[in-house]
Amino acid sequence: MPLVSSAEMFKKAYGKYAVGAFNVNNMEIIQGIVDAAKEEQAPIILQVSAGARKYAKHIYLIKLVEAAVEDSGLPICLHLDHGEDFEICKACVDGGFTSVMIDGSKLPYEENVALTKKVVEYAHARGVAVEAELGRLAGVEDAVNVSAKDATYTDPEQAADFVHRTGCDSLAVAIGTSHGAYKFKGEASLDFPRLGQIAKLLPGFPLVLHGASTVLPEFVAKCNAYGGQLKDAKGVPEEMLFKAGSMGVCKINIDTDLRLAMTATIREHFAKNPADFDPRQYLKPAREAIKQMVQHKIKNVLNSSHKL
Ligand code: G3H
Ligand code: 13P
Ligand code: ZN
Repeated sequence: MPLVSSAEMFKKAYGKYAVGAFNVNNMEIIQGIVDAAKEEQAPIILQVSAGARKYAKHIYLIKLVEAAVEDSGLPICLHLDHGEDFEICKACVDGGFTSVMIDGSKLPYEENVALTKKVVEYAHARGVAVEAELGRLAGVEDAVNVSAKDATYTDPEQAADFVHRTGCDSLAVAIGTSHGAYKFKGEASLDFPRLGQIAKLLPGFPLVLHGASTVLPEFVAKCNAYGGQLKDAKGVPEEMLFKAGSMGVCKINIDTDLRLAMTATIREHFAKNPADFDPRQYLKPAREAIKQMVQHKIKNVLNSSHKL
């Protein structure tokens, strides 16, 4: 089976559940995610950031994901996460990805429209889906730190205008989530009325939630118990994500929770086995931790089990 587009996945999911989009950087992460999806018979998107592409190289990631498809028999969508310009989107369209994100969210509105339109024209001519972003999330991505005061929530009317003018296939919206492990200073809250308004103005159109890790306290505690320094880490409560999945959010992005699961497990391994130096000894439990985390997400956050 070849890599698949996200279009069919989103059509099936709309209003009922969300497809998990997990960031991948190496073989163990890919294997852990795909093992979980296979066991749960859940649709998944594997996504690659510019940083991941630089770290592992495009060709290695493509070949690893192709191997995952062949080995698992699952329909998998391979997506570029936060493409910042036309060139990286083009490289991923030409290089075998089935979906790309053009993130013009930091640009003035008309420039975001123009750039997104350009990517849509190129990608659609080659059968590739395009995610765009409107509004700005706080947090860290690719070493760019957007402070809370520079974050702006998505304007519903503008979102409708943006989708109609660009022809994008899905839209990432800013309703209070943010990237990284420190999402809320006080009480966690998402702007559900705003999400509802966006969904109402764009009926049936797939929305995307970035910055959607829950930063599970047990993993923060485990990291810190073995030398980690995650003070005041806080994520999006699972019930809020579950609710978003019933309101038109078809894609939920998760990276930080995978990083935490992997790192906590490796820290624990070395604390308990200080003499180990065979990478397989710590990457094996780390891969298993990724699998458990993804299974947990599929069941408790995405509601995407048995939705192939
Ligand atoms: O949204 C960003 C993702 O967590 C990817 O992070 O750019 O450090 O690979 P990265
Ligand atoms: P988290 O940092 O909350 O995992 O978000 C990841 C993300 O949005 C990737 O695009
Ligand atoms: Zn993101």
